[in-house]
Amino acid sequence: MNVLVIGGAGYIGSHVVYELNDAGHDVTILDNFSTGLRENVDARATLVEGDMQDLTLLNRLLESSKNKPSDATSTAEEADPFDSVFHFAALKAAGESMEHPDIYTRANLVATMELLNTMLRHNIKNFIFSSSAATYGNPQYLPIDEAHPQIPINYYGFTKLVIEQTLKWYSQLKGLRFAVLRYFNAAGYDVKGRITGKEQNPANLLPIVMEVAAGMREQLQVFGNDYPTRDGTCIRDYIHVNDLATAHVRSMEYLVAENRDLTLNLATGEGYTVLEVIHEAERVSGRPVTHSIVGRRAGDPAELVATSGRAFDQIGWKAEQSELSKLVESMWQVYG
Ligand SMILES: NC(=O)c1ccc[n+]([C@@H]2O[C@H](COP(=O)([O-])OP(=O)(O)OC[C@H]3O[C@@H](n4cnc5c(N)ncnc54)[C@H](O)[C@@H]3O)[C@@H](O)[C@H]2O)c1
Repeated sequence: MNVLVIGGAGYIGSHVVYELNDAGHDVTILDNFSTGLRENVDARATLVEGDMQDLTLLNRLLESSKNKPSDATSTAEEADPFDSVFHFAALKAAGESMEHPDIYTRANLVATMELLNTMLRHNIKNFIFSSSAATYGNPQYLPIDEAHPQIPINYYGFTKLVIEQTLKWYSQLKGLRFAVLRYFNAAGYDVKGRITGKEQNPANLLPIVMEVAAGMREQLQVFGNDYPTRDGTCIRDYIHVNDLATAHVRSMEYLVAENRDLTLNLATGEGYTVLEVIHEAERVSGRPVTHSIVGRRAGDPAELVATSGRAFDQIGWKAEQSELSKLVESMWQVYG
């Protein structure tokens, strides 16, 4: 199939692009490299460098070659029309979204709404969307399933929820087919070692732990060790990016084959504490991960884990690469 991946040079998008190419799909990437890395772009993909908020560019790209004469040579902008669009290009820092909601409105909400309208104008109907655990807010029960109330506690999570709701309306009103994929904590690097560009200014635990082990930063802070968990530190559900990538390809195939929408948690159902992650990183790297315990951070629940039973039922997916050792080892290949 012919697919457009917006944000395909980013952390998750670059892994999905490799998986799509491995599965034999034709991939075009649109990326403005605001956080994405050139070195992570799969050379098999066609790269269009630009901003998805540039509506002239977006229109031209999605217009593709619907009117192309059959003998024309294909170029990036004269390929077959796209069957599906994957959308990874968003701002994702929850704290920042509370300080600068206006920036998140433009980058996450307005840009996505314009993209959806442009897709519909060009009759492109399959949309795979990166949603987030952040749409649920504080857990009311565990593990979180897809029916859990969605009450985001930060503006970032709210932007994802508004898009999810818009997708439901567009599905009913315009026949858009969507896969809403709610990721928990993405981690790890390509187990085949093809993606080696490190995330810049990471905000998540695992890359920060890696940076400390690699000597790129002095130490890390552990926010609270008095939670009601097995060692007092917070438990999170970490999902390997290769597992996320598989789920994306299967979701696209489901939309096309079944012509039905999907809303799925992508998680493992198990979690690891902050200290377990640190100790595993010390074991794998053979280096100390210097850390200090500081006070709890506002808005951090003790435990966040989710069930992906629905993903198993609907697309036959479950996490296969997400054990802690594999997460850490695949990251140490990049950081070590
Ligand atoms: N990383 C996680 O743990 C996590 C968890 C839940 C949801 N998500 C969601 O997954 C998606 C991808 O996350 P990621 O971690 O890969 O982030 P990332 O920042 O690594 O990737 C985003 C990519 O989009 C590109 N981009 C940004 N704005 C653009 C624009 N206007 N035009 C064109 N390209 C643009 C960036 O250059 C980058 O390549 C995001 O929507 C994020 O909200 C991520």
